[in-house]
Amino acid sequence: MPPVTPPKTFRVKSFGCQMNAYDGERMADLLSAQGIAPAPEGENAELVVLNTCHIREKAAEKVYSDIGRLVKAGDEAGRRPLIAVAGCVAQAEGEEIMSRAPAVSMVVGPQAYHRLPAMLEQALRGERASDTDMPPIAKFDALPARRRSGPSAFLTVQEGCDKFCTYCVVPYTRGAEISRPFKDLVTEAEKLVEAGACEITLLGQNVNAWSGEDQAGRAIGLDGLIRAIAKLPDLQRIRYMTSHPTDVTDGLIAAHGEIDKLMPFLHLPVQSGSDRVLKAMNRSHTADSYLKLIERFRAARPGIAVSGDFIVGFPGETEAEFEETLQLVDTVGYAQAFSFNYSPRPGTPAASMDNHLSAQVMQPRLQRLQAAINRDQLAFNQASVGKTVPVLIERRGKLPGQWLGKSPWLQSVWFDGDHAIGDMVEVELIEAGPNSLEGRKKMAVAA
Ligand code: SAH
Ligand code: SF4
Ligand code: F3S
Repeated sequence: MPPVTPPKTFRVKSFGCQMNAYDGERMADLLSAQGIAPAPEGENAELVVLNTCHIREKAAEKVYSDIGRLVKAGDEAGRRPLIAVAGCVAQAEGEEIMSRAPAVSMVVGPQAYHRLPAMLEQALRGERASDTDMPPIAKFDALPARRRSGPSAFLTVQEGCDKFCTYCVVPYTRGAEISRPFKDLVTEAEKLVEAGACEITLLGQNVNAWSGEDQAGRAIGLDGLIRAIAKLPDLQRIRYMTSHPTDVTDGLIAAHGEIDKLMPFLHLPVQSGSDRVLKAMNRSHTADSYLKLIERFRAARPGIAVSGDFIVGFPGETEAEFEETLQLVDTVGYAQAFSFNYSPRPGTPAASMDNHLSAQVMQPRLQRLQAAINRDQLAFNQASVGKTVPVLIERRGKLPGQWLGKSPWLQSVWFDGDHAIGDMVEVELIEAGPNSLEGRKKMAVAA
């Protein structure tokens, strides 16, 4: 490749989970520190980072179509952008990307992106650069301090996964479970709050596997970290995701009843309601043990919103086993949930199992499951109508004077008024749909 003139603008496009969104923000921080500016909305960027997701086949294929689109747009504009592929596809298919997509100059894995500035220098010399090493923690130490934040910020506290669910690529793309040190996390949380965050969501592929030592050297778990961060006076809300049923502790359940700033929301994926399928997935919990956990969370924090993830059509799933999933949904009454058709991932044990189901079998099951989830989401939202709740404004709505924010239960609420992003507004909920609620700003009652 010939040498390239240094890019003046960049864009990071993140796909997949919130941890990827966090990484995307950190890559943007790194590039800004190099003097490269974020490209204005609607304009082509001179450097594009595709921060990819490998969790399902469709997500992974997307990267190649995105590269094609960038090349075409660049050719039309007379200058191709420098392209970096980051994230989990970079980790899993780095070499393949290099050979299949000559327009890509840099391939950087999720644990190596702190080296992006050095890789960029290499790319500017006309050399293609690839780094998919997995040095634990080094990345975080090498990142600049947080200086920017929206009202709701992500903070990665734990990375990687040792659970090896048989369908999942994460243990391979993100490596072994590691917890970031307590002190670093408290410092990063302080910086985020100074930069304007009112809400922090603690992130991890298995966030409740986080463990560390507090300032006194005592061993603590995620609940201890939440307690420490709750002491930051200007921080108003704390959330965490994603949790694994096996790593739920008594302390975490109790925290929901004791810490006001910890929002009444729990994302606890179950994947299936069938114990046979759960075993084949290597999930290490049963439908019943999962339901018992939910009951305990509900006892600690009545009204807590429960969210989950489901996979439909795992190899060998029978109609009766699928119906057990529907039954579990009926029992839990989810406030929201994500559901996906099973997607075989290269190198995972499930990919080589027998009895893969066809799309014709999976699709109607997925539709039935999603109808059940939608019904429960709507019911959860309808039960909130008439309540007045604090809403944290995250962005403008589509119409002038309209605002969009989140309730404590992570419901999207839109309403009109004279406000600003980051305001916490008392809003009366007046109408519910399955995915959002309409609100009205509570008027002060005259004495
Ligand atoms: N660590 C989290 C979730 C990680 S991936 C957990 O253990 O639950 C996010 C979701 O993607 C998973 O919960 C699962 O529902 C879905 N998923 C993962 N691998 C998948 C696959 N091969 N096919 C379909 N969905 C998958
Ligand atoms: Fe994947 Fe299972 Fe780990 Fe979640 S717990 S990231 S689903 S292997
Ligand atoms: Fe996707 Fe990687 Fe997250 S595979 S879901 S971006 S951990």
